[in-house]
Amino acid sequence: MSRTFSIIKPDATRRNLTGQINAVIEGAGLRIVAQRRIRMTREQAEQFYGVHKERPFFGELVAQMTSEPVVVQVLEGENAVPKYREIMGATNPENAAEGTIRKLFALNVGENSVHGSDSDENAAIEIAQFFSDDQIVG
Ligand code: CMP
Repeated sequence: MSRTFSIIKPDATRRNLTGQINAVIEGAGLRIVAQRRIRMTREQAEQFYGVHKERPFFGELVAQMTSEPVVVQVLEGENAVPKYREIMGATNPENAAEGTIRKLFALNVGENSVHGSDSDENAAIEIAQFFSDDQIVG
């Protein structure tokens, strides 16, 4: 069993897609072991996306992630990181496979409905930014 960190982004919460996205997650065999709806602060978003600081889209990304509520989650299952990346689909929804969350729901590369960790190491860092151990019930 392993864990990954997920964010249901503002473009999805705004369109009431939290339940439909959770249905895809659970249908793929991942268990939602922690979940909280928050308004991300500018500081949280800048820290979370620190690796993208020099990218041209950084300002837009931070603005978008703080614009409306997000749902932060911890997902648990076998090979949670690669499994969630598979069901999310490609970052750009134009390249996402049929049946993936981004193919089903994303609007564009910036408003792509969900985030998922890209490695076990980053999953641990990202989970720790938003959840304490006692908030995760596996
Ligand atoms: P995410 O998995 O949350 O990690 C970084 C995010 O940056 C990514 O999803 C996209 O939402 C966003 N992103 C990546 N490339 C671009 C781009 N070219 N323009 C705008 N946003 C982007």
